[in-house]
Amino acid sequence: MIPEETITRVRDSVDLVELVRESVPGLKKTGRNFQARCPFHQERTPSFNVNPEMGLFKCFGCGVGGDAFKFVMLMEGLNYPESIRKLATRVGITIEEAQSPAVSAEAHERQTLYGLLEDAARFYHRHLLESSDAAEARAYLEKRGLSKESIVRFCMGFAPASGQALREAASRKGWNLDVLEKAGLLRRKEGSGRVFDHFWNRIIFPIWDTQGRIVAFGGRAMGDALPKYINSPETPVYSKSRHLYGLFQGMPTLRKMRHIVILEGYMDVVVCHQFGFEWTAATLGTALTEEHVRLLRRYSDKVTLLFDPDAAGAAASLRGGELLMADGFTVGVVTLPDDVDPDELLVKEGKASLEKYLETPVPFMDYYLDQMRKKYPGTAPESKLAIAKEMLPLIKKMRDPLLQDEHLGRLAQALRVEKPVLAAQMKKIKTESAFAKATVDKSGNNEVAGKPAEALAKAGVKPASALLSVEEEMLLLSLLHPSNVVAELLDALEWTDVRCRQIWALVSPDVAQGTVQVSSVMGALPEDVQEWLTPLTMQQRYYANPQATLEELVTGWNRQQESAVLKEMKAEIDSMIDGTIPMDQTKVQAYNDLSRRLKGSPIIGRRPGR
Ligand code: CTP
Ligand code: MN
Repeated sequence: MIPEETITRVRDSVDLVELVRESVPGLKKTGRNFQARCPFHQERTPSFNVNPEMGLFKCFGCGVGGDAFKFVMLMEGLNYPESIRKLATRVGITIEEAQSPAVSAEAHERQTLYGLLEDAARFYHRHLLESSDAAEARAYLEKRGLSKESIVRFCMGFAPASGQALREAASRKGWNLDVLEKAGLLRRKEGSGRVFDHFWNRIIFPIWDTQGRIVAFGGRAMGDALPKYINSPETPVYSKSRHLYGLFQGMPTLRKMRHIVILEGYMDVVVCHQFGFEWTAATLGTALTEEHVRLLRRYSDKVTLLFDPDAAGAAASLRGGELLMADGFTVGVVTLPDDVDPDELLVKEGKASLEKYLETPVPFMDYYLDQMRKKYPGTAPESKLAIAKEMLPLIKKMRDPLLQDEHLGRLAQALRVEKPVLAAQMKKIKTESAFAKATVDKSGNNEVAGKPAEALAKAGVKPASALLSVEEEMLLLSLLHPSNVVAELLDALEWTDVRCRQIWALVSPDVAQGTVQVSSVMGALPEDVQEWLTPLTMQQRYYANPQATLEELVTGWNRQQESAVLKEMKAEIDSMIDGTIPMDQTKVQAYNDLSRRLKGSPIIGRRPGR
């Protein structure tokens, strides 16, 4: 365990430009950055950038980027600790592996759990390969068509039937019961307090995170014993809504293809990879979540959903597909014939069979419409309205206006209704009442309260991108021109972009001090935020008068926030005026107040005759 302090010292001591230049001799200075042709992919024009101030590199061609450690990891195929040791030697810093108080207790706990889970995986794996009591498990896997290579590649294992074996082996290695329990490897019997292995007499599938650490396990019963699968509980390192099984193994392929097939289960993934479909991963029986969608963003633009052809599978396809579509993915759905899982299909009929199905995915919106037509059959106006009501919220959520318009047009055509009518219907859909976001205080002044964007995001609506870019710009400016004044201006801000908010929480004290080392906060950020921040810091921007620019940005941001709220209020008031919803004078008053403040005069008066 290398103390965080030491890691930071090493990072700060490395001259990134010099380090990169050793492998990339063509590195040339351009503006504040250095550029070259990317060493990680083939290209003719240089899109590989190094920013020495920030200590970061980024290739705008293939997308790789990160700090000095990441560079060494990629260049030399090292893991993170190895890259730290390598660079420490380079700059002459000795690493005392002892714990440092600087390592937060939580980070320390997670490290411990990773270590234990790795040990446990090795224990199960060795058992499966070598032990005589795993003969049935080996025969079972062979019957399911798994090759030895797959078993090794996915580090599959066997948990012995005694229910004590893992604990005993772990104790011998010095792991204590509390840690085993935290890692989800032990169960305590209520009452007697006796402890048992969580997994026993099961085939074990380790689950990896995207950094290649084992975070949990799934255990399958052999044959028809129930429950079929037992999984690790949620632990400090595992939450099932955040991981996709097989993603780590598929990453190199995914980076190139940017197309992923989402399956349901462990077996499906292992067998698909075995047959060369490495661009597959599984949700492990749960619905695809927003967190999964964010994770997928990093490795793909196109997603094919391949769930079971049953009702649950169809429901999962719809929910998952909606999240992906709203986020701008190209989504297709593949349905296999009844009662055939991808793994069975492959084992029985070979690679070409699945390939054939994957060649012709049904575009998600067509699939959605098909499902809705089954749910609301016939061409009666009521059916059309019902279908429109189910599908319009998704179309409304689409972030890309071109796609949104296209899908609206297609739906209108499919339902044989006029597009403007459908558009009007869509406009009426309320994502969330804007009034919840604006409160009237006693003096009659409106205040934009709470976090509108967070509320919007909850309702599935992403804030306008113009708003995002203002925040990005403000953040970037603060990193380039840190000062006390800048920090004060931005501390007063409710960031709507969660990434900016996270980063700001980390850098704010440094900005106030006038010195920011972005690379040193990187480690504390989730991987997707890191990947977002790196290219941002590579932006070439010059501010003649940073403080004045920032003040303007903040003012503009405030107005945008309020205008967005006002626009939503207006939609609701419009519905009151045309009688769709009852008139609410308090809301009219709130609207008028905000509108007056923003534009100078109210637009909506009292309804005549009331
Ligand atoms: N699952 C689970 N617990 C269960 C059943 C299923 O966690 N009791 C999860 C597993 O991740 C499983 C996935 O849901 O892989 C899909 O379930 P299912 O289709 O029933 O299993 P298969 O993956 O098809 O497993 P197998 O092929 O071994 O029967
Ligand atoms: Mn199956």
